[in-house]
Amino acid sequence: MTSKILLVDDEARIRDVLSCMLTELGCEVKTASGPDEALDLVGKESFHMAFVDNLLGPVEGIELIGQLSKVDPDLHFVIMTGNPNVETAINALKKGISDFLRKPFRIEDLLVSIDHVNRKRDLEQQRKEMLSGLELKVREKTDELKQTYLSVLVALSRTVEKRDLGTYGHSMRVADMSARIAAKLGFTAEAIEDIQAASLLHDIGKIGISDFILAKKDRLDEEEKAVIKSHPEKGVEILKPLMQLSSLLPAILYHHERYDGAGYPAGLSGESIPLMARIIAVADTYDAIISNRPYRNAGTVEQAVTELTTCSGKQLDPLVVSTCTEVVQDRADVLG
Ligand SMILES: [Fe+2]
Repeated sequence: MTSKILLVDDEARIRDVLSCMLTELGCEVKTASGPDEALDLVGKESFHMAFVDNLLGPVEGIELIGQLSKVDPDLHFVIMTGNPNVETAINALKKGISDFLRKPFRIEDLLVSIDHVNRKRDLEQQRKEMLSGLELKVREKTDELKQTYLSVLVALSRTVEKRDLGTYGHSMRVADMSARIAAKLGFTAEAIEDIQAASLLHDIGKIGISDFILAKKDRLDEEEKAVIKSHPEKGVEILKPLMQLSSLLPAILYHHERYDGAGYPAGLSGESIPLMARIIAVADTYDAIISNRPYRNAGTVEQAVTELTTCSGKQLDPLVVSTCTEVVQDRADVLG
């Protein structure tokens, strides 16, 4: 491959001689007499390497190299100097310069330098390709793991829905709504994944409640109500051994707390209820209203919004209710 070289020297004679030598070696050469011209050229086109004179009038070559690197971080540099000293050499190496040429130089010296820079560039390219290959593999594996994790959570949520008649798909819909609310509230992607997972599992504790109580059509007595109300704590007991889910436990434990403090299990109120739990409470209530249940028909979206608004500040967090209303409105707009 032809090496494309930028040659920066303030002496016209040196530019001409060096340019001839490099062209003779099969390189494509452009010249600049000073920093401004060099910066302009590097900003407009890409070069493989730049040969820069160490003294460019008032500006030092090293200084210009720093500026050129900012314009093109992939550009390699060879510094040319008439009176090399240890300090210049160390300075040059610190700035990541690939090679050092001592004036006057022979054509063989140029060849060695070009070869050296090209080898360095190849190695860097290989390293970059290897890194991006590794990154891709890690990303693929992470996605695979996330997919498996999500499938397990969905499967778990379905085990509850199978027993709690009429709730099929409820957890998935709550997860979807919670995620939309969380996104509108500015949650990070990771926090949105957490709230989706917590929503899928919010009623997992119902696994520990007898079919007799879950399927009972008649009014529940006080004792049975207490058993039903124990499902957030049962959920936490079930999930506690899974360390990866520990950050979800507060959302599961407190999803039946009320904003006014009249909920369960702890009677927390306002912002002392974890935000994830307040979001799940709204999404859970919204979905319960618009879903068919064995004991009543589904309400409309408008009825759900009205009911959420009525509950705002009492059962539910007003900010989360208004955000949920916005999500519902956005959906209505999309569906026309
Ligand atoms: Fe629940």
